[in-house]
Amino acid sequence: MFKKLKGMFGNRPILVPNAAGLAEGEGRTIEVGDMGSSGRQILLCRVDGKIYGLDTLCPHAEGGRLGRGPLHEGRYAVCPMHLYKFDVRDGAPQDVSCGHARTVRCEERDGNIEVYA
Ligand code: FES
Repeated sequence: MFKKLKGMFGNRPILVPNAAGLAEGEGRTIEVGDMGSSGRQILLCRVDGKIYGLDTLCPHAEGGRLGRGPLHEGRYAVCPMHLYKFDVRDGAPQDVSCGHARTVRCEERDGNIEVYA
C-alpha cells in the first residue's frame, strides 16, 4: 500500500516542520507510512549544521531500533539492544563488524526538513 501511494506521488518529499527546532547533536524520530505494514521509522539528526536521516531499523538485525538521542559524541546514533553505534552521516558502524544503517536523503528548506523516504 505504501509503495503504491509513493508511486502515485512520485519522489516528492515528506515535509517535517520546524527544522530549526532540531538542535546540533540531537535526533527526532518520525514515522513514514503505516508502521503496521510497510512503514518506516526515520531518525532525523543535525550534525555540523546539516540534517541527516537514518532508518531506525538496526542493521545488526536482532530487532533493535536506533535511539533518537542525544547522539553519542554528537554524531553517532546508538542501538539500545547491544549499544552498537552508527555515524548518522553515512550509516557506518563504529568499531563493530556490522552492515551500515540505511541512510535517507534529507534537505533543509524554507524552515522545513524535506525527507525523501
Ligand atoms: S540489534 Fe542493534 S546493536 Fe544489536
